[in-house]
Amino acid sequence: MRVDVIGGGPAGLYFAILTKQSQPQVQVNVIERNRADDTFGFGIVLSDETLANLERADDASYRDIAANFAYWDDIYTHYKGLVLKSSGHGFSGIRRRTLLQILQRHAAELGAEVRFETEDVGAASHREADLIVGADGINSRVRGDLAAHFAPAIELRPNRFVWLGARTTLPGFTYSFRENEHGIWNLHAYMYAHGECTLVVETTDDAFKAAGLAVENEEATAAYVARLFSEELDGAQVLTNRSFWRQFPVVRCAAWHHGNVVLLGDAAHTAHWSIGSGTKLALEDAIALHQALLKHADDIPAALATYEVERRPEAERIQHSANTSLVFFENVRRFWHMDPVQFNFALLSRSKQITYENLRKRDARVIGDVDRWWARHVAYAESIRLPSDFSAPPPMFAPLTLRGMTVMNRVVVSPMCQYSADDGTPTDWHFVHYGSRAVGGAGLMLTEMICVARDARISRGCAGMYKPEHLPAWKRVVQFVHVHSDCKIALQLGHAGRKGSTQLGWEEMDRPLAKGNWPIIAPTPIAYYPGLSQVPRAMTRQDMNRVRDEFVVAVRMGIECEFDMLELHMAHGYLLASFISPITNRREDEYGGSLANRLRFPLEVFDACRRVWPKEKPMSVRISATDWIPGGIMGADAVEIARAFKSRCCDLIDVSTGQTDPASKPVYGRMYQATFAEQIRNEIGIATMAVGAITTADQVNTLIASGRADLCALARPHLADPYFTLHAAAEYQALGYPPQGVSWPKQYWSGRDQLYALARRAKQEAEQRLIELRPRKPDVGPAREVDAGRQSFAALQR
Ligand SMILES: Cc1cc2nc3c(=O)[nH]c(=O)nc-3n(C[C@H](O)[C@H](O)[C@H](O)COP(=O)(O)OP(=O)(O)OC[C@H]3O[C@@H](n4cnc5c(N)ncnc54)[C@H](O)[C@@H]3O)c2cc1C
Ligand SMILES: Cc1cc2nc3c(=O)[nH]c(=O)nc-3n(C[C@H](O)[C@H](O)[C@H](O)COP(=O)(O)O)c2cc1C
Repeated sequence: MRVDVIGGGPAGLYFAILTKQSQPQVQVNVIERNRADDTFGFGIVLSDETLANLERADDASYRDIAANFAYWDDIYTHYKGLVLKSSGHGFSGIRRRTLLQILQRHAAELGAEVRFETEDVGAASHREADLIVGADGINSRVRGDLAAHFAPAIELRPNRFVWLGARTTLPGFTYSFRENEHGIWNLHAYMYAHGECTLVVETTDDAFKAAGLAVENEEATAAYVARLFSEELDGAQVLTNRSFWRQFPVVRCAAWHHGNVVLLGDAAHTAHWSIGSGTKLALEDAIALHQALLKHADDIPAALATYEVERRPEAERIQHSANTSLVFFENVRRFWHMDPVQFNFALLSRSKQITYENLRKRDARVIGDVDRWWARHVAYAESIRLPSDFSAPPPMFAPLTLRGMTVMNRVVVSPMCQYSADDGTPTDWHFVHYGSRAVGGAGLMLTEMICVARDARISRGCAGMYKPEHLPAWKRVVQFVHVHSDCKIALQLGHAGRKGSTQLGWEEMDRPLAKGNWPIIAPTPIAYYPGLSQVPRAMTRQDMNRVRDEFVVAVRMGIECEFDMLELHMAHGYLLASFISPITNRREDEYGGSLANRLRFPLEVFDACRRVWPKEKPMSVRISATDWIPGGIMGADAVEIARAFKSRCCDLIDVSTGQTDPASKPVYGRMYQATFAEQIRNEIGIATMAVGAITTADQVNTLIASGRADLCALARPHLADPYFTLHAAAEYQALGYPPQGVSWPKQYWSGRDQLYALARRAKQEAEQRLIELRPRKPDVGPAREVDAGRQSFAALQR
């Protein structure tokens, strides 16, 4: 068998090693255009997890790699004149050239033939090979030649970055953020050998241009960086090695194999360098391909298919984290108003891999600082004088005040249609459903979308606020919540628009009724499912007047019911959302076209409602911050939409996404919509509520403490567990904080006491187990830890 590997980087060489080590009889040729000791850049990082994988895959090369590590545990963040330290991160740095030399040596010793200084001309020149491995990096020719099969998509990110070096000693991984007359500059610096470190400097395209730096003028770049970061680098000279300013290309391929050709590493996918995973992915791809080939020894197509099926989810997970991480660095300005403690936490939690709880495991002091800072500067700043021995609660248990409404904590029961009303009248189901969630501990609960007219309903089971019977029925629900819980209750009002007259949620959702459909309206007559859904009638100005007035009548009824907050539903493709999105609004009058025009009617409805809704009570708007459709609403539009509502005295933006049209292609993941809440909150300074795949108290604390949202709404988790917040309170032993961040019904106090005792015991047992199973650091020689002096929390107090 003959295997030709195109590219002698980490992916190609490691695959050659693994193949020769397990199947010495296989002929392995590696074709590399560079000389053996050529390399770009300086050092790379590998995490403890990757090292464990390398150790399992090939102990011999692992030992050589491990012997050349610079190991560190700490991250230092320089921000606005302060340095914050966090520990327990476990990373190793190695000179890229050393790594390649080790891999080259092992590959040669095992009998692989590595042909240096050989330019490969593509997969077509390897007809004799049984397997062709395209490990030719970010600009892969193999990928390009077979683009019709691999279908690569390459997205060039806007920031500029450059890879440099310096001869100096750093105490740990170092981030520094400095602002000058040109803009904000980010430094990522880490050691890879004694006295040698890698620097990656990054900035926006605007700052790069304002600084007058040329892409390939290495001398000017080095001088600029040395000046800017002289303090962090202790005055060291900045070194270059083909240090050109680049833009990061995010590479994705629809397929990674075709016939007997397969892509590995950067050729198949890239992960932004800010999570230090490019080499990790390359090496772990090689391990995965090797294992698939062992599994299907005589069947290369089956092996390649297995490799792709098994490896893709993990590679995409890392790529997703990297993409989430790069958003932070592209938008540092968004976080620039933050205090150091919060900025540092937002930085560390940027890719959502490190959360509040995860960071506590790494360095409990950092979370202690976050809790105390949060409590003193955000949660209780104005309302309460805290005693000196105050033990700060996790951020989720802090109150939030919007106008005259104070919610006791940051957990919200998200609006959820129950499809169980009788001509809009809520039934016993609603009474029990809302009642049980109100006593479950959340600070705020939203009703489902309550429709402002019979023909405004999504389905025949939707709740309404349009006839006299609705008033006492909703009043009963609100009264129960007020009398028996400390939860606040908000009324969500909406109109279904073109998504109206459809089946119940558990039937065929968004599809028309088999019979008895009622006429529907929308800004533009576009059916939701063309050929299947009803075509809505385009709204006239008279229709707009009627709908606006129906909202106002419903608001007046809501006032009588004594709801605490009013939310207008302008998301998910319903009527008001469909005015805002260009996908559903194609009008040519003053209600269509520009965003300002498309917002005209939704703002008119908002203004009319705000006029009657009591001044002391807050109002929010739920928006779809992106349509997930090219040409539709995007994050930047969402900021403008939120700005428009803020200017009309809206107090909170409830940030959801999508559901505008069946063409939406959402990118799901943990907390996947929170990034839009973050953008709106920090770009225009309005409170936001994040929602979508937030499932744990840890995630709530992460989003709240990092300043990505002010409230977190959980929908499905509250269906499975109405007592989500009470369970979280037990987990954190949150009881008796001033003021109480959680409230248990007195009828349930004995259950509370038992749950707290059980949670306390479970925590003690887990801590004991942790002590017994202390993670092993790789045995890689002395760590060059230099303690730069951790800034005490007291020093950070302003
Ligand atoms: C600024 C920056 C910082 C980074 N920091 C880190 C980090 O901290 N940690 C980390 O893990 N990763 C980091 N990376 C990413 C890392 O360098 C790559 O992701 C990793 O090297 C990918 O390995 P690879 O083998 O797939 O590709 P490469 O390392 O690019 O190897 C491909 C090889 O193919 C050869 N080649 C290409 N075309 C041909 C041809 N036609 N004929 C012959 N040979 C060819 C090239 O010369 C090259 O040697 C960083 C990248 C950048 C840009
Ligand atoms: C059964 C169900 C009904 C829903 N009904 C509404 C609704 O009436 N109004 C609304 O704005 N969102 C509604 N949503 C969306 C949720 O409020 C929430 O945005 C979404 O489910 C994502 O949150 P999650 O991941 O916590 O479930 C509904 C969701 C579910 C699961």
